[in-house]
Amino acid sequence: MSTTPDPADHPDPTDGRRVILVSNRGPVQYGREGGERITTRGAGGLVTALSGLGRQLQDGVWVCSAMSDEDVVVARESPGGQYPPELGDDRLRVRLVALDPDAQDAFYTVIANPLLWFIQHHLYDLNTAPNITRRETDAFESGYAAVNRHFAEIVADEVDAAGGEAIVMVHDYHFYLLPAEVRRRCPGVVLHHFVHIPWPDPDSWRVLPPAVRNALFCGLLGNDVVGFHTERYARNFLLGCQELLGLPVDLSAMEVVVDGRVVRARWYPISIDPALFEAMAESPAVLDQERELAARRRDHLLLRVDRTDPSKNIVRGFLAYDLLLQDHPQLAERITFLALLQPSRQDVAEYAAYVERIRATVDEVNGKYGTGTWRPVELHLEDNLDLVLAAYKQFDVLMVNAMFDGMNLVAKESIVVNRRNGVLALSENTGAHEELGAFAVTLHPFDLQQQADALYEALTMPPEERRDRRNACVNVVRQNDVAKWLQVQLADISRAAEA
Ligand code: F6P
Repeated sequence: MSTTPDPADHPDPTDGRRVILVSNRGPVQYGREGGERITTRGAGGLVTALSGLGRQLQDGVWVCSAMSDEDVVVARESPGGQYPPELGDDRLRVRLVALDPDAQDAFYTVIANPLLWFIQHHLYDLNTAPNITRRETDAFESGYAAVNRHFAEIVADEVDAAGGEAIVMVHDYHFYLLPAEVRRRCPGVVLHHFVHIPWPDPDSWRVLPPAVRNALFCGLLGNDVVGFHTERYARNFLLGCQELLGLPVDLSAMEVVVDGRVVRARWYPISIDPALFEAMAESPAVLDQERELAARRRDHLLLRVDRTDPSKNIVRGFLAYDLLLQDHPQLAERITFLALLQPSRQDVAEYAAYVERIRATVDEVNGKYGTGTWRPVELHLEDNLDLVLAAYKQFDVLMVNAMFDGMNLVAKESIVVNRRNGVLALSENTGAHEELGAFAVTLHPFDLQQQADALYEALTMPPEERRDRRNACVNVVRQNDVAKWLQVQLADISRAAEA
């Protein structure tokens, strides 16, 4: 946890100032059904984590991309933003930004995903990719930089309208250039950026041309505070400032000096609202799904819940399961591997290809071990929160074998609502492992045999040990909940404003 004082010392950390949130995906998304406009709450950890913030603010605005066609219509109708009733919050204005479609495509599907995402999750096989060509350098200028500049202008307008002082909270890898641009336009603001994905070692950034990687680091250095999930990511960021930009870095104070300004690197492990998940897990729709799942379950339920993202290591998970079935034939007919996977970023070629690899691997395992009465892997490629919550309650072992994952909220959500003293089998390369690893069975994401052995250990663990481990995990999640994640950041922001 960040080295900050107790947040109780800062009862009103925003001091009545306007808070401007910036993220690519916003808290609501609009669509049309039967000729009517419909609204759905945004998905993903970032949106869930920030949705509680509005209640603490006097004047908040959330600036985010118009993602759907209907979002674009809403953005044109209300350029200054609106208060979506679905948020139940009349102090958080949502300002959707409609982008030029070519710029948006270059920004999202060429630079943010895959290039930045792949570098930050170590997903490239450097022998073959990436090839940086004019497509990427042009997309950086006409897409990533242009979108960052456009958002920076909107933020600057919001700051001006608030009298020149505001707190700007920027989120994620889509907006690394924005903070320096806002700082240039509005020197009176406090800028805080939270990076939701891993921050790798300095050499990983050398995949990018010097001008591009320097621009990304310099953009982030426009902030007063740059936050990460773990101390390791924060340290990697400072080491990058030192090695790639030659800046003076203090690793004990976790600070870097740039243009005479101090920029602090901090870490705040993101979390969930446990009470919210407990309540959702009791909804009638979830109870229906749970009854159905309980009726057809076998002795052991192995579960995974992920977006179909290559970083999640889904294919290796099935290969490890193959080894488990091979080594322990007595598990035949007695176990199901339930894989609840939400299709993600299917407009990015690498992601579409990954779904095909997942299907092929599942077919292979089912073909090899399945019988007329038993399907070893049950694959669902859909977004079905009720089924996810029912499966969270019913699992015996949850597999999270991500190659690299900034935090992994599935581990936290699932263990809180589980009813069977389920065991977490958790990759050592997730942020969550720093908090929960002591009570989980650790997985080494590239070692298939180790994963198979660890799964077997988790599946056959004595009941008291399962109970003690789960209780310990739940205590950690309850203590480090999402409210604390937010409070500690606001306390750091308050200190930065006083400095
Ligand atoms: O931090 C990564 C993240 O932004 C999460 O908040 C979210 O779950 C995921 O990526 C969603 O990605 P996208 O917006 O590209 O679907």
